[in-house]
Amino acid sequence: MSGFPVRRMRRLRSNERLRALVRETALEVSHLVMPLFVRPGRKLRRAIDAMPGNFQLSVDELAKDVASLDALGVPAVLLFGIPETKDEAGTGAYDDAGIIQQALRAIRKTAPEMLVITDVCLCEYTDHGHCGVVVERRGKKVVDNDRTLELLAKQAVSHVRAGADMVAPSDMMDGRVAAVRRALDDADFADVPILSYAAKYASSFYGPFREAAESAPKFGDRRSYQMDPANADEALREIALDIDEGADIVMVKPALAYLDVIRRVKERFSVPVAAYSVSGEFAAVKAAAERGWLDERKVVMEILTGIRRAGADVIITYWAADVARWMKESPT
Ligand code: PBG
Repeated sequence: MSGFPVRRMRRLRSNERLRALVRETALEVSHLVMPLFVRPGRKLRRAIDAMPGNFQLSVDELAKDVASLDALGVPAVLLFGIPETKDEAGTGAYDDAGIIQQALRAIRKTAPEMLVITDVCLCEYTDHGHCGVVVERRGKKVVDNDRTLELLAKQAVSHVRAGADMVAPSDMMDGRVAAVRRALDDADFADVPILSYAAKYASSFYGPFREAAESAPKFGDRRSYQMDPANADEALREIALDIDEGADIVMVKPALAYLDVIRRVKERFSVPVAAYSVSGEFAAVKAAAERGWLDERKVVMEILTGIRRAGADVIITYWAADVARWMKESPT
């Protein structure tokens, strides 16, 4: 017998330094990515209703905010663009003078060290709001997978040319990672990594984002190309395919309702895992905190630590800036 192990476990918990000494999971700002929305205009900070503290920013304001994030120690941002005009083929997405391309060039001036990741998808740029080119087949409107691939590849190359450090295809078309990889290699960007939204669920937690990115589908939904929330084995298959095609980091999205998926991905594969704590997860906690029902900082630290504990190396979160600020103000 070894005495009273439970008492010693209690002792390990009761002293702050002892607790820190044996803590299994560290939540550090260096693992966080802050999503940002950019739109045309000047001196614009348009508040996003369901995501308090987040804005659609014009390029000038965005460039300033990214510099502040850099000063706070946030290592990376993920950019989403709202173009001047939308059309059927999402032309704004791969226009070298497009909104993301402008934003990248501006950020390169104000925050040259910032790691800038761009979302590669057509849904913000198409007038119908779907993630690809829509065609009619047998009287039904469907997304044309293969024609979309070409455009996504063009979009990725255009982003990297404008200064993106990494691209994140989020559209869920089949074969997109391979298409983007090939296009980047051909354009002499063989060293630019791909963060793939490998397991992306058809989730109801994206609601506030679709308002923020003005990307809600005008008809139908995304169930033909996003995954059924009930499936986890399927996520592993999707991820294996993406790694095979050349994904360097794989993402599970959303995070909170899919912690088991994050864990299984982490255990199965040896590439870094990212988790996207999406807009609905953010909005739910914000709303409760505003009513005084939850302590925002404590709950957020608990959620993000949980996502890390589940196995995420990287967390994309709308709280990245707040966490950096909180940790600076009072580290514990
Ligand atoms: C698609 C995309 C979406 C999100 C990130 N990339 C929306 C969707 O699939 O409808 C959602 C992110 C969030 O809810 O925070 N470009």
